[in-house]
Amino acid sequence: MASVLVTRRLPEGGLDPLAGHDLVGPNHDDRAFTHDELVAHARDVDGIVCLLTDRIDPQVLNAGAGRLRVVANAAVGYDNIDVAAANERGIVVCNTPGVLDETTADVAFLLILAAARGAWVAERDLRAGDWPGWGITQYLGRDVHGAVLGLVGYGRIGRAVARRAAGFDMTVLHHTRHDTGEPGWRGDLDALLAEADIVSLHCPGGEATRHLIDARRLALMKPTAVLVNTARGTVVDEAALADALHDGRLFAAGLDVYEREPQVHPRLLDAPGTMLLPHIGSASFTTRLQMAHLATSAVATVLVGGTPPNVVTPG
Ligand code: DGY
Repeated sequence: MASVLVTRRLPEGGLDPLAGHDLVGPNHDDRAFTHDELVAHARDVDGIVCLLTDRIDPQVLNAGAGRLRVVANAAVGYDNIDVAAANERGIVVCNTPGVLDETTADVAFLLILAAARGAWVAERDLRAGDWPGWGITQYLGRDVHGAVLGLVGYGRIGRAVARRAAGFDMTVLHHTRHDTGEPGWRGDLDALLAEADIVSLHCPGGEATRHLIDARRLALMKPTAVLVNTARGTVVDEAALADALHDGRLFAAGLDVYEREPQVHPRLLDAPGTMLLPHIGSASFTTRLQMAHLATSAVATVLVGGTPPNVVTPG
């Protein structure tokens, strides 16, 4: 019987595709394994179902090498896994594309609206009893309807955000390295940042995009602009973003992801105009179960010698 390590708790029903396998973990108290524990477990299993909080590096993969055949991340992003190192050792890596696009786009739009309109600050005041009653100069935000939306990355999630933007009469620009041939493409990221009223990030994490939005690029944005990040925290230099917000060089930010989760840069916590969510982009009941199913089904498929549709190829 094949053994599968399930590193964290999955939504109820998420393990169903692995029925009949010997499950190691499955870590019902949801405590993240330490790196040493991951290495130790990897020695004795044929497959691993992990989350983006698990660092699957060459050490873990070396421990598994020879027996371990598949690692499936219950996430679309896989910057926590060294895919090239896995493939070198004959280990297949899978992720969960396609099932979380709309749910994540919903949260991106929530952040666009909430950050642009200062909803969090207004709500906080109301709850604290600090709202003195309606005033014509209170809580002034930036209009979302009719604004120029700049999407950085134009994959499935970016496109899902663009569809929502159409309903708000927004002008949508997008930046990708290769020309999409579609209206609104900007090959020059700097130009898009300078043009947009709202910038929403939808590119992958990893070394190639580390601090893509740094102090220099933040300075290109309009002081009235809003930055939204539902992609990966590492794409933004958090210290530079906190400085821009504190100095009034950027109107607002809406963040769902952070450079060192679960830590949040302390100067972002008290930065004005900052709406912060704890990485809930894909967190709906339906979507999280679909993600779990996709990951566990991929492991089951590889373990019977098949090739699942969601194999990651090193890019
Ligand atoms: C992913 O799947 O990469 C998301 O960040 C999880 O919400």
